[in-house]
Amino acid sequence: RTVAVVLAGGSGQRIGLATPKQLLKIAGKTILEHTLDVFEQAPRVDEVIVMMNPGFVNDAEAIVRKAGFTKVTRVLPGGTSRNATTQLALDALSHLPADTTNLLFHDAVRPLLSQRVIDDCVTALDTYRAVDVAIPSSDTVIEVDDDVITDVPTRARLRRGQTPQGFRMSAIRDAYERAWADPGFEATDDCTVVLRYSPGTPIHVVAGEEQNMKVTQPVDIFIADKLFQLSSADTPEFTDQDRDRLLGGRTVVVFGGS
Ligand code: CTP
Repeated sequence: RTVAVVLAGGSGQRIGLATPKQLLKIAGKTILEHTLDVFEQAPRVDEVIVMMNPGFVNDAEAIVRKAGFTKVTRVLPGGTSRNATTQLALDALSHLPADTTNLLFHDAVRPLLSQRVIDDCVTALDTYRAVDVAIPSSDTVIEVDDDVITDVPTRARLRRGQTPQGFRMSAIRDAYERAWADPGFEATDDCTVVLRYSPGTPIHVVAGEEQNMKVTQPVDIFIADKLFQLSSADTPEFTDQDRDRLLGGRTVVVFGGS
């Protein structure tokens, strides 16, 4: 059984509006609704839970109700950090069998996730207990200390991490248990927790996609909106072949509903 956990507990401070970014509308729907729609349509995802910013749980519930998502079983308040939100999801799912349940943790603010990536993650979990999604870096990534370069890691060996991050439930649960016992625990994602606190567990990397971007900075709203427009049928300047090339075969019906 595979459960998708949609992480929507944040407030979007870098975008800086009163409304958390997952509730902003792009291409006619909230970012959260776009993301939930992808999981609703994923044949190998059985259940979806939403971990929402505590002040906006009602808004998320209304979105789920109005859209009629059948796989979403619960909308729960998230925690004060992304890792705290993950832990609350693990607590909420503790009744499930930990060795046979797969969990896919996904940022609510990556609405352009493709079915191909979800499918590859679920397939990889047949073999691996932990799976990440990543893409090569176009930019050179530098390491700095006080605005002075200390290292320039070889670009070919670097990847930019995306989500979903998938785990056998027992693997992520045990890693978190050890992490919270460490007073210096700090992370920004879930694979880091497995890497640090379950060192023997290989984390397989599935190829991500550029368009699986995380809406993080103000400009990302415009880029994501444009990507949805391009993937709709309403872009006569591109042939179907162009769109496949630009968007990796992803097609979304933006106008006219689905
Ligand atoms: N997230 C979460 N719980 C938190 C913090 C973040 O579930 N306490 C989620 C966000 O809602 C988002 C994802 O984790 O979908 C990725 O985090 P990020 O882009 O950093 O979101 P925010 O924390 O909302 O953004 P910011 O750092 O700009 O405030």
